[in-house]
Amino acid sequence: MPTPSKTTIHELAASVNQLHLLAFWGQLDAAGRHRLEDQLRSFDWNQIAACQQLAASRQSTTAKAPPLDLSGARTPPCHSLSSGDPAVIKAGREALAAGSVGAILVAGGQGTRLGFDGPKGTFPIGPVSRATLFELLFGSLKAVERRYGRWVPLAIMTSTATDAATREFLNQHQYCGLDPKQVLLFRQGTLPAVDAVNGQLLLDAPDHVAVAPDGHGGMLAALAAAGGLDWFASQGVETVVSFQVDNPLARPLDPEFIGRHRLTAATFSTQIVPKTDPTERVGVVVEQNGITRVVEYSDLPEILAAEQLADGQLRFHAGSIAIHAFDRSFLEQAAANTDSLPLHLAHKKVPFLDADGQLVEPASPNAFKFERFIFDLMPLAERVSVVEVSAAEGFAPLKNPSGAVSDSPETVHQAMVDYARRHLAAAGITVADGIDVELDAATILDDDDLRQFAAAGSLPGNRIDQPQVVRAGEHR
Ligand code: UTP
Repeated sequence: MPTPSKTTIHELAASVNQLHLLAFWGQLDAAGRHRLEDQLRSFDWNQIAACQQLAASRQSTTAKAPPLDLSGARTPPCHSLSSGDPAVIKAGREALAAGSVGAILVAGGQGTRLGFDGPKGTFPIGPVSRATLFELLFGSLKAVERRYGRWVPLAIMTSTATDAATREFLNQHQYCGLDPKQVLLFRQGTLPAVDAVNGQLLLDAPDHVAVAPDGHGGMLAALAAAGGLDWFASQGVETVVSFQVDNPLARPLDPEFIGRHRLTAATFSTQIVPKTDPTERVGVVVEQNGITRVVEYSDLPEILAAEQLADGQLRFHAGSIAIHAFDRSFLEQAAANTDSLPLHLAHKKVPFLDADGQLVEPASPNAFKFERFIFDLMPLAERVSVVEVSAAEGFAPLKNPSGAVSDSPETVHQAMVDYARRHLAAAGITVADGIDVELDAATILDDDDLRQFAAAGSLPGNRIDQPQVVRAGEHR
């Protein structure tokens, strides 16, 4: 392999005004020079210019976004995920039985807050089983397949941080029961961080520019580039749902969610959980001038976040839980237009090399990172359908480490146990006080499965006295 000549890479760096990235070129060996040159050549410099422009438009010291104008904005009408509407359920079941629903699992995040050494999907979260998030979520895909007789093609988005470990986990665990042909792994892209003061790119090693994952919105371009949209089309997928790896109660394939999407001829559907505390850090779905979109919690002024309607409900209460459904054709159109998703920036601490080549770990935010958000497709959709689910039934995110007051392994365990106890009770099964139970994701899809489990009569007195994972198949 010839060593890249300084002239060519010098010309490239000079043309984009980033010569400082070659400050340590003279000290790099051939492999290091290749690494740096490959990285610089892989960048989309037009996109980086857009990032730098956005950074320049923000005041570097406060990095505050301009206030949003939300005059006339309101919470859009929301349908219940448990409406019991027979037409809606039928439409959803038919779509699943026709094999026309595909799924994208968003699993590229770095899980910084959780502080777990590995992709979040490999975190053991089952309160009794200790099953990982991947096992639980893939288990529920198996349950859907068993019920409807068709598998759900699954595209899993990883990132540089999670890709290798995710592939290794899937291989070691035989894809958690999924058929490898049912699964497509694709990696989201990265975007360089820029210095908050001068907009320049930063080195975090002599041969490496500091980059960060491009946000869950990176899904659109990365999926298209990996051939994922064609892959869905080739399997007859018309509706694509997306969900996040850190919510074991997620119900992206609920027949009512899919059925509502189909029956309302929506191009974009989204699930929300009613927000009751104004300080909850979730984005809210709002409708303004006929356009529906998500406003991030950081963009919602405190006074508006706390505003109540006459009935005491928060004016902006539709908390987004990042479970969406799209028409595949809508995703195809959006992917064809590189400007579909705007860039967002965040003021963050990014380690960088100083002029002497020493790594500086900044004590306060020094740089901007850039991300795209998938919910920014919402305003482009012709029709948006908003579906409401209670947190107890559909949202228990794992974000924080053990001991945190919210979204921690303990709060997720409790939510899963409470969920199991409630549904067992509805099927006529009592669980003794203080006993942890868990529903096996792969064999118990819904209350129908639980009723059959109860009817099998293998539980003395229909009572559970010991911690247990409730599995349907064993009792049929
Ligand atoms: P979060 O924004 O909560 O990030 O992601 P995170 O990585 O889980 O945790 P922190 O913020 O570093 O502590 C929500 C979902 O979006 C995915 C995550 O994997 C998670 O499923 N995500 C986030 C990506 O796939 N890529 C990204 O660039 C960011």
